Amino acid sequence: MSLVLENITVTVPDGRETLTVLDRVSLRVRPKELVALTGPSGSGKSTLLAVAGLLLRPTEGRVSIGGTDASALADRDRTRLRGTGIGIVYQSANLLPSLTAREQVEVVAHVNGRLGRGTRARAEELLVRVGLESRIDARPSGLSGGERQRVALARALMMEPAVLLADEPTASLDPSRGAEVMRLLREEGRRIGAATLLVTHDPDETANADREVRLERTPTTVA
Ligand SMILES: Nc1ncnc2c1ncn2[C@@H]1O[C@H](COP(=O)(O)OP(=O)(O)O)[C@@H](O)[C@H]1O
Ligand SMILES: [Mg+2]
Repeated sequence: MSLVLENITVTVPDGRETLTVLDRVSLRVRPKELVALTGPSGSGKSTLLAVAGLLLRPTEGRVSIGGTDASALADRDRTRLRGTGIGIVYQSANLLPSLTAREQVEVVAHVNGRLGRGTRARAEELLVRVGLESRIDARPSGLSGGERQRVALARALMMEPAVLLADEPTASLDPSRGAEVMRLLREEGRRIGAATLLVTHDPDETANADREVRLERTPTTVA
């Protein structure tokens, strides 16, 4: 259940030149491990997370999710692996306005073709785990920012993914709510045995991670 990134290079066309966003970045996150990915703005943290989340194919390099080499997969199989093997939490929860908290979580099973008898109970159990037992039928407009992030976390956990990715999940929260979301991310990631990669600017979150990986390089342009 690990995440392996090997020699990841991402270049993008920039007029007549080529911009190198990531240059041979390698990183391994083990099961139950929480790694903080840090570095200055523009150093490629979000791009690396998009590569790890199979949302962006790197120009070069290999990505492995829970032992499956994603680089070798066709688009359809990559999409399936993304749905079941990866859970992502962003800075904003991106919830669907018309759905209740329970439905936000249930929809993940639906999208991945895993809707079944146990889906409702599992969604509710996850919401209880993240402390939302009294908010199960609430819609996003009736939830606080911290509560919305906890729904987003429950949603990311629904398929028990091998890999959890979080891109500044507490950046829009006050410190105490942020700390609660962080505690849940760490505990739940461990419980399901996920490899967790967290982009953060927060020194406390970095200090509480098992390890820090820092991207130093800023993008370079080559004609
Ligand atoms: N598709 C793209 N086209 C052009 N530039 C990009 C693209 N993707 C990323 N970049 C550039 O790569 C750099 C790294 O971006 P990003 O991964 O968002 O950094 P971070 O999350 O560390 O702030 C930025 O300078 C950004 O403008
Ligand atoms: Mg970013």
